Amino acid sequence: MNTRKRCTGYLAPVDFLPQLKQELKNITAVHDRLVIADGPPQPTVWAENIWYDPQIIEAASIGAAASALTKIQRNWWPYAWQLHRRHTLIQEKLPHVAAKPLNFPQQLKLAQLGSFTLLTPTTMLASAQCSSPFPNGVVSFVEDTEGPPSRAYLKLWEAFTQLGVWPKAGDRCLDLGACPGGWTWVLAKLGADVVAYDRAKLAPHVASMRGVTTVKGDAFNATPDRVGRIDWLCSDVICYPERLRDHVRLWLDSGLCSNFICTLKFQGDSHYGVIADMLAIPGSRVIHLHHNKHEVTWMLRASSPN
Ligand SMILES: C[S@@+](CC[C@H](N)C(=O)[O-])C[C@H]1O[C@@H](n2cnc3c(N)ncnc32)[C@H](O)[C@@H]1O
Repeated sequence: MNTRKRCTGYLAPVDFLPQLKQELKNITAVHDRLVIADGPPQPTVWAENIWYDPQIIEAASIGAAASALTKIQRNWWPYAWQLHRRHTLIQEKLPHVAAKPLNFPQQLKLAQLGSFTLLTPTTMLASAQCSSPFPNGVVSFVEDTEGPPSRAYLKLWEAFTQLGVWPKAGDRCLDLGACPGGWTWVLAKLGADVVAYDRAKLAPHVASMRGVTTVKGDAFNATPDRVGRIDWLCSDVICYPERLRDHVRLWLDSGLCSNFICTLKFQGDSHYGVIADMLAIPGSRVIHLHHNKHEVTWMLRASSPN
């Protein structure tokens, strides 16, 4: 009979370990950004990768460690928070894993990727099954260094990729807090029609893209009665999360939009309660994307995949 106690590992994004620790119960160990908690996986917003049912593996040598891992499965990635050289030497003995950046738009068809870490030179913690198919949950893209006027476009690429669906040509999108124009650029490149609201002016080369209409003013004036039916509401507006929550409710109640990607931005931890409000909306996901800063992304998808 297996009497081993079940536990789960949660890898915090760089700089967000306190947030992850705050939302987890029954923490038994913390290895740099990797938090171990007793029991089955808990719902989390702040974990970049979840290690399901990690096992302790004793391996006296680098070769023994690599062979123990490959006996379990082919694909592994190290989480090297200490003993960096030893992690690298083990990785070199494992089958090669091509961690190629994604070319957006691209459906995820990535193989399962296990994670391991050395707790001591001869003791590994390893999980064959992790929530993210990306190395340590780090989603990377082949970047566009010329088109988008800000790096915020990477958040929207990541959100669409995680959701598995994105606007198609001719979809009507509302972009709230659009300046300088990274998100509008993403939406217009997909062939969508974009109504971009901001108090500031959009970068001219984005404002002149086909399908883009700019409205200079308060994003919260973009109400369903004024804007009409839309396919996607995207918001990266800087505001109190409560204000965005109430605006989203207005749109949900109107029934005039069914797909949403919205950033909830925080200063300090006093507004984290809004995360639970957003999660209470049926079908919602709230995640800290790899490209999020001190903010999380709320997503709701109603349409069928592309
Ligand atoms: C983080 S930036 C958005 C970046 C944008 N998503 C991009 O990809 O370039 C936030 C924007 O929200 C705008 N903003 C803040 N409050 C606003 C409001 N009440 N109405 C309209 N825009 C607002 C700011 O002017 C700023 O341009």
